[in-house]
Amino acid sequence: MERSIYQGTADYLVSEDLRNAVNIAMALGRPLLIKGEPGTGKTMLARSIAEGLGMPLIIWNIKSTTKAQEGLYVYDTVQRLYDSQFGDRDVSDIRQYIRLGKLGEAFVSEKQAVLLIDEIDKADLEFPNDLLWELDIMNFYIPETGETISARHRPVVVITSNAEKELPDAFLRRCIFHYISFPDEEMMANIVRVHHPNLESNLLAEALKAFYWIRSLPGLLKKPSTSELLDWVQALVVGGIHPDRVTAEIPFLGVLLKKNQDFDQVLRRLHSPGGLQRQTGWPGNVRSGIRN
Ligand SMILES: Nc1ncnc2c1ncn2[C@@H]1O[C@H](COP(=O)(O)OP(=O)(O)O)[C@@H](O)[C@H]1O
Ligand SMILES: [Mg+2]
Repeated sequence: MERSIYQGTADYLVSEDLRNAVNIAMALGRPLLIKGEPGTGKTMLARSIAEGLGMPLIIWNIKSTTKAQEGLYVYDTVQRLYDSQFGDRDVSDIRQYIRLGKLGEAFVSEKQAVLLIDEIDKADLEFPNDLLWELDIMNFYIPETGETISARHRPVVVITSNAEKELPDAFLRRCIFHYISFPDEEMMANIVRVHHPNLESNLLAEALKAFYWIRSLPGLLKKPSTSELLDWVQALVVGGIHPDRVTAEIPFLGVLLKKNQDFDQVLRRLHSPGGLQRQTGWPGNVRSGIRN
């Protein structure tokens, strides 16, 4: 089998360490576990790998109720019962009621696929361990039909986690691990430029100053992340905001902050003597932003 090397893509900035982690995980056939705060580009990485290597992307979004079994297959007994009562289909062939889950889909994919298991920390503690076996041996058995589903090609498995919850040791042992730290200002400037190539550099500099100042405030309930910054920059552009007003007023603050307490704290600090910018008699209405 030919071996592809991930180089990154035009819309996704990747550090050398992260690029290496991706390629090592692929070479060893191990899942790549990516941890990091929200907005550090974990989900986007899987998209970038798929795009960069020309592979289909299969996304399994994990929720608190997700069970590992659903990733393999489900047997639609309700449909079968329905058909046996009201339908004219032959219900004796159980195969037609077997629905493959995302892992199953990745196994039977004609082309090698990227399988993103997104936000694994949302599920219960058993979930990662329950997947270990199938991820290792790359096949599973369906007792209802006597079939074994084996991977045509070993999928590139990217697993993301939002850092808070610890994952089981046995699971961690099998993964290649990479932690994406929150981008520093320089990296963030580059990320913003990827999304807004024509952005005026003064506006970008002021927006970053305000953004990192807000993030540095102690006790915020929800720090704004990259997604919020990108939206905010868009709002500043669309609103025709002059760079001078950005740190003075922080317009459209509701795009950055989603909690009332944070909103109030930022406004209070902005106007206090040690605030972001010494206020020079500016009386504007900072609340006039979009607030959701
Ligand atoms: N390295 C990067 N290069 C380009 N865009 C990025 C990068 N990191 C984050 N982003 C952008 O930030 C936003 C959040 O990224 P996302 O992948 O959803 O983060 P996460 O899954 O870690 O919460 C997306 O719009 C994404 O395009
Ligand atoms: Mg994500």
